[in-house]
Amino acid sequence: MFASLKALPADPILGLLAKYREDTNPKKIDLGVGVYKNEAGETTVLDCVKKAEQHRTDTETSKVYIGPTGSSLFNDEMAKLIFGQDHKVLNENRARTVSTPGGTGALRVAAEFIKSCKAGATIWVSNPTWANHTGLFEAAGLTVKTYPYYDHENKNLDFDGMLAALKQVSADDAVLLHACCHNPSGMDLTVEQWQQVAEVAKLVGFMPVLDMAYQGFGQGLDEDAFGLRLMAESVNEMIVCSSCSKNFGLYRERIGACTIIGESSLSVDIANSVLLSVVRVIYSMPPAHGAALVETILSSDELRNEWYRELQTMRDRINGNRQLLVDKLVENGVTRDFSFITRQAGMFSFLGITPEQVQQLQDEYSIYMVGSSRMSIAGIAKCNVDYLAQSIAKVL
Ligand code: LMR
Repeated sequence: MFASLKALPADPILGLLAKYREDTNPKKIDLGVGVYKNEAGETTVLDCVKKAEQHRTDTETSKVYIGPTGSSLFNDEMAKLIFGQDHKVLNENRARTVSTPGGTGALRVAAEFIKSCKAGATIWVSNPTWANHTGLFEAAGLTVKTYPYYDHENKNLDFDGMLAALKQVSADDAVLLHACCHNPSGMDLTVEQWQQVAEVAKLVGFMPVLDMAYQGFGQGLDEDAFGLRLMAESVNEMIVCSSCSKNFGLYRERIGACTIIGESSLSVDIANSVLLSVVRVIYSMPPAHGAALVETILSSDELRNEWYRELQTMRDRINGNRQLLVDKLVENGVTRDFSFITRQAGMFSFLGITPEQVQQLQDEYSIYMVGSSRMSIAGIAKCNVDYLAQSIAKVL
């Protein structure tokens, strides 16, 4: 059976990781996959996670099956983190959360759930979007269409284009929106723009699917959830896919959550039964370890406060790197305006160079970024930014 298979190219993001690891140049810089790195270029385990892990080792009494929903404490804590303590959908008991294997698992569950609502449904994604969104949704049998989002020429949002496209969407389509820290552009909607998008969602009646993989990496935990919370107030039905990979640094634990909001407590219970049957036939039940760590942190005042501080350190370092790179480019005689990088948020920005220049940076300088010139800003450090700016200057 395997004989008919043709080899596929490596994943555009994960493939870079392997190449970077093999590179022996001591000056190599990894701006590829979206993982947080400290000044030393390391992705260490958060202190609050270490403590939660110790607590779990000391107190865990069983490894028995957890069930398709996952841990209810984790699910409740995640819902409060996403919506805030006092959101209407929580007060009205209209949200149901399941733990999932990472944010990707949440998206796949959401896609299969949408298919259960309507076979062959269309989901609209931003142009551009995370490289895995399209493949993931198509693999679940959805039709993927795009709405304009990032204007590469002006390094800004094509908001008029976005709004015009969303007004044309059908009422029984789904629309994927990045809640914050847009991946790959770093260009987020303003408060006013979220208000307009929420108005259109309400008017048209499409179902928003909010992908929140970077809560806390942009402006702050509440600020980053503004658009999502507003949208949840405006529409009757919505899906949220969230991830603990980045903000808890739990990348390899694979823990995220899929939350559905229904029109009423009764209708969301019916929908939830479908969601659970979707989970059962894909992976049966989510992994428990990451969820146990997150629930331990979020339900302890001490660990939660420690997490806030560690998250702020990560956020501040990334935002500082944005300014640092722009300053160093100027210092190295680059006259092209890169100041847009400081107006973007989260882990990524497009540098805005050609695929050939991206390849040249990789081949000649061992600097790795995605072919679209998406840079993971966390890979910049005081010790490599001069070399990075000089190399970019040469390639330009
Ligand atoms: C990224 O976009 O680099 C991250 O979300 C990691 C991934 O799985 O692609």
